[in-house]
Amino acid sequence: MKIVDAEFVKSAVEPETWPPAERPEIAFVGRSNVGKSSMLNRLSGRKALARVSNTPGRTRLLNFFDLTIERGASREILRICDLPGYGFAKVSKTERANWSQMIGAYLEEREALKAVVVIIDVRIGPTDDDLEMLRWLDAEGRRSIVVATKLDKLPKAKRAGRLRQIEVQLQMTARSLLGFSSEEGLGRDELLGRILEAAHA
Ligand code: GTP
Ligand code: MG
Repeated sequence: MKIVDAEFVKSAVEPETWPPAERPEIAFVGRSNVGKSSMLNRLSGRKALARVSNTPGRTRLLNFFDLTIERGASREILRICDLPGYGFAKVSKTERANWSQMIGAYLEEREALKAVVVIIDVRIGPTDDDLEMLRWLDAEGRRSIVVATKLDKLPKAKRAGRLRQIEVQLQMTARSLLGFSSEEGLGRDELLGRILEAAHA
């Protein structure tokens, strides 16, 4: 399984300007600066596909990308939507309200949306915002894939234990939480597998 092509489609805010819902779509959400854009870059094998930054709250728009995935003799195109991060303190109330409105509309209404990858920082664990997002997705009947990233920041011997601990916090079944590292490329194939599975569900 490999990604043979990755391209930026467009950035958008208003539903009228979203690209047509013409293929299975997967959204990436998480706290600001958690590593959403880096994960997308690592998945696609393209370092600069999505913009990565040290300044939290950089991604302010819905950013759509198309990934062409090759499996055996077949090829398919999936669309990814990189959403702006939540929980960034330094934004105004108005901006936060705009954010909720934009994300809420997308997550509620988008017909092509097959699953939402909820990204948490393995060192921090799920924040209140993450828990709220997960509950909300559940209530909306949206499938979520939870990924704990920045695994490279933990010593190797502590990684598995920390993942199990977060699973308990999230009341997840064993090994349904994916560990990931954009730095080291850990978890890439598993995540791609889950995404493809969701795209065809
Ligand atoms: P916003 O778009 O602002 O919400 O941020 P984001 O979630 O897209 O995060 P981004 O990918 O821009 O990464 C934020 C910072 O974390 C950058 O400095 C990245 O280099 C770093 N980072 C992301 N993923 C990893 C990882 O797996 N390991 C390590 N060590 N650093 C990471
Ligand atoms: Mg980003």
